Amino acid sequence: MAPTACVSHAELCTIKQDYLDSLDHHGQVSSHGEDDLLQSRLTAKELVLDVLKKRATEVDVDHCGPGEEDAFYVADMGEVYRQHLRWKMNLGRVKPFYAVKCNPDPEVLRLMAQLGNGFDCASKSEIELALQAGIEPSRIIYAQPCKTKSYLRFAAEVGVKQMTFDNADELYKIKATFPDAELYLRILTDDSTSLCRLSMKFGASLDVAQQLLELAHQLELKVVGVSFHVGSGAEDPTAFLKAVQDARMVFDQAEEVGHELHTLDVGGGFCQSSFEKFAGILSDAIDSYFPPHIRIIAEPGRYYVASAFTLAANVIARRDVPDPLDPSRDAYMLYLNDGVYGNFSNIIFDHQHPVAQVLTRAADQPADRGSLNPATSENFSYSIWGPTCDGIDVISERIDLPGLLNAGDWLYFEDMGAYTKCSATRFNGFSDNHEVIYISSETGASALLNY
Ligand SMILES: Cc1ncc(COP(=O)(O)O)c(C=O)c1O
Repeated sequence: MAPTACVSHAELCTIKQDYLDSLDHHGQVSSHGEDDLLQSRLTAKELVLDVLKKRATEVDVDHCGPGEEDAFYVADMGEVYRQHLRWKMNLGRVKPFYAVKCNPDPEVLRLMAQLGNGFDCASKSEIELALQAGIEPSRIIYAQPCKTKSYLRFAAEVGVKQMTFDNADELYKIKATFPDAELYLRILTDDSTSLCRLSMKFGASLDVAQQLLELAHQLELKVVGVSFHVGSGAEDPTAFLKAVQDARMVFDQAEEVGHELHTLDVGGGFCQSSFEKFAGILSDAIDSYFPPHIRIIAEPGRYYVASAFTLAANVIARRDVPDPLDPSRDAYMLYLNDGVYGNFSNIIFDHQHPVAQVLTRAADQPADRGSLNPATSENFSYSIWGPTCDGIDVISERIDLPGLLNAGDWLYFEDMGAYTKCSATRFNGFSDNHEVIYISSETGASALLNY
């Protein structure tokens, strides 16, 4: 394991106080209205930046041991906490089951457990992580419609009863392995506007839902709910309305067949930027189609963690090249010590476009490299590459950044908490395990986590 560090409480207090002292208006950090949440987020960003800078400037790239200049994260648990408050304000009826796959970071799981959330797990080891976080099996849903048999036996052993299915073979498998399971029929949704489409792989069409419900009844299996997922990074909020309407139809079919359904699982797909719009449509749809005695759960992943993690990476090399758009000008290729085979796996697997920002430049330090690399705010054109030998390892094909960057300087990338480090590899011998510095910009999260 890479060392993980919480900034000590005293250290964090000093950084936080320094920052608050520099503001005209104090005290927004733990306020809880929607405007206040926004203000708290802005304040917290400055705090994160200070911690990033402090850590980066501790590294002496000219003398450090191998890997001591590796990329690292600052994770603000206060941001996860704020997202939870935002959820409660907008989707109070819906209980979140955090999607572990999105970021199984142990501190995130610890906070989710403390917040009283459930967990959506898709494999044996995700179930183990949830149990290790102290979660009761009844707060876990095994949300994988096509399960490995031995994992299903494991779920039965540890008492994780809630699980999804979307096909007849899975029903026979469950009958043979775990006949007491509590089943959710996952239905197909229109996910054509989503960043990551899931419906080509999972979900029963409405044409086959009735047959599956009848088969489950014949096999004396218990169907307790319906689930759907509108696709990760969904862009069309009406997809939720249509999915809720379809789920209502399937509820009615199931009741006719003889099942007693009590839960609707509305899946994941929520994003930071469009949350209120989606939540409004979903909330109205739920209230219109499902009476209050029906329990509503969801499986948010990205929504909770994307903005909580900021990544810093070191510039390990620079090549000077003619600007591809205007060969009479200079441009620069920067090589970082992290790339698409590492924490930037979200570029490949999650269709993201992380945006580089300058964290520290040696030229800005008092003992700079003088005329070789003058401190300047002039913009230069860069392409940004990862450290492996592969040509697809590109983080940004073109970006203008202030100042002439050099090996040893640091860049940082916000919104790196979702589908990043969990899908990193060790290709080319690089690490898939980077230091995480945990902080909390919210007193509520600090109290729960003892930071
Ligand atoms: C079954 C299931 N639930 C929840 C999620 C989390 O989705 P998101 O991160 O978009 O909220 C996923 C993501 O792929 C999923 O497959």
